[in-house]
Parts: sequence; C-alpha cells; structure tokens
Amino acid sequence: MITSSAPGKVFLFGEHAVVYGEPAVAAAIDLRVEIGAEEIEGSSVYVEARDLDWSGEIGPGSGVPEELEYVKEATRAVEAEGVRLEIESEIPVGSGLGSSAAVTVATLKALSDLLGRGLTRRDAASMGHQVERAVQGSASPTDTYVSAFGGVNLVEPGSGRFEKLEVEDPPLVVGDTGASGSTWEQVSGVRRLRDRYGAARRVIETIGDLSRVGVEALEGGDLECVGELMDINHGLLEALGVSTPGLSRLVHAAREGGALGAKITGAGGGGCFVALGSWGDLETPIRGAGGSPLGVTVDGEGVR
Ligand code: MEV
Repeated sequence: MITSSAPGKVFLFGEHAVVYGEPAVAAAIDLRVEIGAEEIEGSSVYVEARDLDWSGEIGPGSGVPEELEYVKEATRAVEAEGVRLEIESEIPVGSGLGSSAAVTVATLKALSDLLGRGLTRRDAASMGHQVERAVQGSASPTDTYVSAFGGVNLVEPGSGRFEKLEVEDPPLVVGDTGASGSTWEQVSGVRRLRDRYGAARRVIETIGDLSRVGVEALEGGDLECVGELMDINHGLLEALGVSTPGLSRLVHAAREGGALGAKITGAGGGGCFVALGSWGDLETPIRGAGGSPLGVTVDGEGVR
C-alpha cells in the first residue's frame, strides 16, 4: 500500500480578504491527514474513512459524507479507477484548520504515486484548488498551496505571488470552540456585506494591508508587532460578521493569558482561533474559558 500525508494550516493574516485577491499569510501545522492507497480488481473506488466511521464505494452519483466529496472529486480529477483508499485524519473537520485541503492534497499525491501520474507539489496545489472550487463553489488557493508546500507562506492571488517565507517558526497555540462552521455560509455572508457596503470593501482591503505589514514583522522577527496585527485582524473579521461569542471569548481569554496576539483562523462561524504564545502560558486559560487547546508547530515539509 502506498501512503501519503498532508498538513493542515492556520491563517496568521488575511482569511476572507484572500478570496478577493488580497494577500494572506498562512502556516502549515503538524496536524495531518494520511491516505493509504492500493489497486484493487475492477473499476470501483472504495474508501474507508475511520474517523468518520464510514466505508463504501464512491463514484458518480453515489452519496458520501460532505467531507468525502473532496476525495471523490480528487479521484475524478486524476481519473482513478480500481482503487481502495484508507483515510485517517488528525485535523478536526470544519474547524478552520484546512482539513478539506489536506485530504484533497494527500489524496491527489497518493493516487499520483500509485498510478504513476507524476504530479508535482505545484500540480497537487493547483489541482487541489480546482477540487475545492468544484466542491465548495468558491475557494482561494491558500489552503491547498500551504498544505502542498508546508512552511509559512504569503499567498496573494491578485498578483499571482506565492512565496514560502524565510522566517523563524512563530510559537503557536490553537484553541477549538468545538462548534464547526460552514465555510460556504461565512464566505457568502462576507460577500453580501462587500456587495452592499463600501465600508466592508475597505475593511477587506485593510486586512490585505495587515498581511503586507505582517510579512515585514515576521521577517524582522518582531513577534510583538505580529501579535498586535493579529489582534487588529481579529477585530476586522468580527466587523465582517464571522466571529461568534464563543470564538471571541476564547480569543480574549488567550490574550489575557499572555498571548502576544490571537485571532480566528479560517472561515469562522465556530471552529478554531490561533494565538501567538507558548503552550505553557495558554493551555490553562483556553481550557478555563471552555475551549480545547491544541499545541501545534509549523510543518516545514508539506505533502509527502
Ligand atoms: C477558509 O479556510 C479561508 C477563507 O478565506 C476561504 C478561502 O480562502 O477559500 C474564508
């Protein structure tokens, strides 16, 4: 059996704004999806997803859990037949940690290796982006790019700039609200505000500015500045309506516990936040405020 795995991610800056071409900064993290793939007799594609407690055939017209739509679409993209896939994931679903991109990129790599399709990292990132768009309707290239390449990345779809940054790994702690958010709903909500109000368009542009200054702060190793910019970014995401009382409570608990900065990561509407600080400082305050803390480090490798 061939195995492949790909990491999840956190946004340090720029989610939602990146959908409109603004820059974002996102880091791959050491939570992974692993895919095992082997050839089987016949033309069907059979999947065992242990975390979802689901197994069965996926093919045109077959009903699968939403999370497996990405696997189904990735399988179609590389025209795979006669394959059995085993999926195991450490990444909570619908949490803003990029589980759908990780499962997509890992599936593409496993099938490419198994069937000799010769996909490069870049191919896995861009094909993965098309898969996400096909399933979600709209998606920026951030999640699949970061999952494919690993590290801390600047992604600016508007200018076509994609760059792995040469920076020290920032100390990160993730906190999970335990409630999952729908990316589609949150992205639609922001689109409605943007279509209606110039002020919302300017908020989105300002988030892009935060990413630009954030890159300079990361490159200069100025973590205090990075943290302050993350706090501003969180406030602007709240202004765009994607926070929840639970998320904001945890963000404030982390700041009071000593985080240099804390913000939503990903689409919001539930899910996770990311704090800049140490596990020793932040584990207890996050737990005390009702969240589940996750100690994470930056994954420099990407898909393998
Ligand atoms: C989702 O992880 C992040 C969003 O910016 C959507 C996207 O980039 O596709 C909300």
